[in-house]
Amino acid sequence: MKNILVTGGAGFIGSNYVRYALQAHPDWHVIVLDKLTYAGNLDNLRDVAEAFKGRYTFVRGDIADREVVFETIRQHRVHAIVNFAAESHVDRSILNPDAFIMTDVYGTYVLLEAARELNVERFHQVSTDEVYGDVPEGRSTEDDPLKPNSPYAASKAAAELLIRAYRVTYNLPVTITRGSNTFGPYQYPEKLLPLFITNAIDDQPLPLYGDGMQVRDWLYVMDHVQGIDLVLTRGEVGEAYNLGGENERHNIDVVRMMLAILGKPESLIRHVADRPGHDRRYALDTRKARALGWAPRSDFESALRETVEWYVNNAWWWRKIKSGDFKEFYRRQYAERLAQAQ
Ligand code: NAD
Ligand code: DAU
Repeated sequence: MKNILVTGGAGFIGSNYVRYALQAHPDWHVIVLDKLTYAGNLDNLRDVAEAFKGRYTFVRGDIADREVVFETIRQHRVHAIVNFAAESHVDRSILNPDAFIMTDVYGTYVLLEAARELNVERFHQVSTDEVYGDVPEGRSTEDDPLKPNSPYAASKAAAELLIRAYRVTYNLPVTITRGSNTFGPYQYPEKLLPLFITNAIDDQPLPLYGDGMQVRDWLYVMDHVQGIDLVLTRGEVGEAYNLGGENERHNIDVVRMMLAILGKPESLIRHVADRPGHDRRYALDTRKARALGWAPRSDFESALRETVEWYVNNAWWWRKIKSGDFKEFYRRQYAERLAQAQ
């Protein structure tokens, strides 16, 4: 039995990964370590807890807490760490960067220290295409310089530099994946697609930043978790791999497609004040991950349709979230923007 520590496993991509990994690897025991911040949610793992009793353990804890991290790794004799735990929302990093430094940078450092001291066989970091910064044309390759622009992106790039240093200095067996904009079930409704889908279901306005002509490379969550798993199990130690959908679209086109699927009018769209420092475009070259045997297999429109249907059918999941502390974040982020919208 291999014991895999999945940090941040109660979040969006982490919970989808846990479900996938337990199905794909019958000889794995998955231990989720999650602080359960506003974005962590045990509802995301409810079915997992039932379906995989005996091969799944949940530990509530902070990756920046050395004692909890060391104790969890020792107690469960962890072979590999897959680090999803992070503050992940760019807008929140602009409002208050503090938690991003504590979790994304310092938390990663604590995990690296534990991996080094306790001889963990593999440390995998779930990173992001945002580390490359704005890409006006072409596609980023893994050797491109890291030029992050938001506090979030900088915190993820900082973590990557620490990981690189641990590889070079201590010979720690590390791998990194840099994923692009991911969408699918269980995504916290602060991100573009789940926010806009759930607002549209309720006939609420959709606050589109600026002209809506920014470009993101959309990747279905099932493709993302398969790429992470492949790099974890077969990637070359010390290497980073881009995981992109090779599916670059303007935000406004994605929103229009979503509205058409839902049968809601485009008049819900409001152009609001832009995000400060907003990267205009991301795009990834995925040849390296493809050479390993990965490819984004989902068709964008079908995956978007499935995602929309999931939110329509799982209102119990997101209504709970949107009726809580989320309201205060929404007011802070959007009230003035929407009041001034054209
Ligand atoms: P998310 O915000 O949905 O989930 C983050 C999870 O981490 C939550 O369960 C939260 O409780 C947990 N967490 C936060 N701070 C913690 C701490 N100090 N200790 C332990 N747990 C903590 O995020 P997501 O969208 O699922 O992203 C997961 C990872 O993937 C992140 O590292 C993010 O940078 C990366 N990523 C995300 C995307 C995307 O489009 N969502 C794309 C590429 C990479
Ligand atoms: O590229 C990978 C990154 O994708 C991940 O590392 C991040 O964790 C994840 O949050 C995501 O970052 P983005 O900032 O690209 O995602 P977000 O959903 O916040 O925004 C997508 C695009 O939509 C972006 O250009 C900003 C725009 N947007 C977003 C929101 C929330 C709007 O126009 N209005 C909004 O209300």
